[in-house]
Amino acid sequence: MKKIAVLISGSGTNLQAIIDKCLSGYIEAEIVCVLSNDPNAYGLERAKLNNIKTKIINSKDFETSDLFNEGLYDYLKTLDLDLIVLAGFMKILSGTITKTFYGKIINIHPSLLPKYPGLDTHKKVIKNKDSLHGVSVHYVSEELDAGPLIAQGAIKTYKDEDIDDLIERIHQIEHIIYPEVIKFICKKQIYLDSNKIVYKNININNKDFIYKNYEI
Ligand code: GRF
Repeated sequence: MKKIAVLISGSGTNLQAIIDKCLSGYIEAEIVCVLSNDPNAYGLERAKLNNIKTKIINSKDFETSDLFNEGLYDYLKTLDLDLIVLAGFMKILSGTITKTFYGKIINIHPSLLPKYPGLDTHKKVIKNKDSLHGVSVHYVSEELDAGPLIAQGAIKTYKDEDIDDLIERIHQIEHIIYPEVIKFICKKQIYLDSNKIVYKNININNKDFIYKNYEI
């Protein structure tokens, strides 16, 4: 059984999707810890409801981001993890963490990277009247939202779509793609080899896994 930690800062709907898929056996892994930098993150309740260990490393308790990252690094090192899953974790990881765990940390970002790294992706899509929006799952590197891309899911936007509706549709794709990628990583069907992603026994000839259009 692979050991994974999920890092959150907020509501944790992605965390919930991952918990559900671990419990059903779809993902062959145990979530050994849900870690939050925010003591009020609702995702912590989701973990507790499922008897998963929680850890708070409150970023506000540290004078600098470097010190917070040192605390986070020291804790992560104690866990003997196969995979670190960022699911709405709103802190930027230090180079020490991204380098030490390179190939073992993944993130989900609500845009079709390399478009719109950083915050407010949904607002930017609406403001720019983009016809497509989507999500990207990628390995985490030192540069924000820029590590090797594992999979993307795209949806068409509607004219004058309400931002909450758009976010809701983006969440729906996230809850499909993220567990799917985690499942394949835990089965060693996806891994990073010399900065190149290897896909084993996954039908990617038609690029359907790497970039998929969703009718949601
Ligand atoms: C998701 O949209 C994810 O892409 C982004 O943060 C959001 C987290 O949502 N990184 P939730 O806490 O999982 O509901």
